[in-house]
Amino acid sequence: MIVRPATPEDAQGIYEVETESFSVPWRRETIDRELANTEVTRYYVLVRPDGRIEGYAGLWRVVDEGQVTNIALRKEVRRQGYGELLVRVMMEAAYEEGCTDIFLEVRFSNLPALSLYRKLGYEVLSIRKKYYSDPEEDAYVMDCKKEKYHWVVK
Ligand SMILES: CC(C)(COP(=O)(O)OP(=O)(O)OC[C@H]1O[C@@H](n2cnc3c(N)ncnc32)[C@H](O)[C@@H]1OP(=O)(O)O)[C@@H](O)C(=O)NCCC(=O)NCCS
Repeated sequence: MIVRPATPEDAQGIYEVETESFSVPWRRETIDRELANTEVTRYYVLVRPDGRIEGYAGLWRVVDEGQVTNIALRKEVRRQGYGELLVRVMMEAAYEEGCTDIFLEVRFSNLPALSLYRKLGYEVLSIRKKYYSDPEEDAYVMDCKKEKYHWVVK
C-alpha cells in the first residue's frame, strides 16, 4: 500500500469509499470539486498495488488553520493501522505548510474515530448540537495544536 496526494482521477475510488462509509455520503460532484480546489484543499489516498483506492483523507487549509473534511477507509482494510498512517501523513504535511491548529468534527458515537483522534493528540473543544443527520446526532468539535500532536510508541 502507498499513501500519496490525490489527483482528479482518484474521484471515483474516493466516491466508492465514501458511499460504503457514511450514511449521508458526498455526491460525486462534491468530490470532483474538492479535488479541483487545490488552492485550499489537501487530499491524500491510500492505494493498493493494483491501483484500487482503499481510503482517503482531506482537509482545508485556511491561513494557519486546517479543517478536516473527511477520513474513511474501505471496511476490509480497517483496523490495520492504515487510517492512522493516512491521517498522520495529512496532518504532518499541514503542519509543515504552516498550520498551527487542525480542527475536525466527529459523531458522539464514533468510538473508532474518537479513539484515533485522541491517540494523535486531539482534544474536545466544544459540542455542536444535532450537527449530523441520519441518524441525528451531536458532534464533538476537536482540535490538535501542532505542539500537542504526538506519536505513541508501544
Ligand atoms: C476511523 C477510521 C478511519 C480508522 O481507520 P483504521 O485504519 O481502522 O484505524 P487504525 O487501524 O489505523 O487504528 C488507529 C487507532 O484508531 C483507533 N481505532 C481504530 N479502529 C478502532 C475500533 N474499531 N475500536 C476502537 N478504536 C479504534 C485506535 O485508537 C487505533 O489505535 P491502536 O491500534 O493503537 O488501538 C475507520 O474506522 C473508518 O474508515 N471509519 C468509517 C469512516 C469514519 O467514521 N470516519 C471518521 C469520520 S470523523
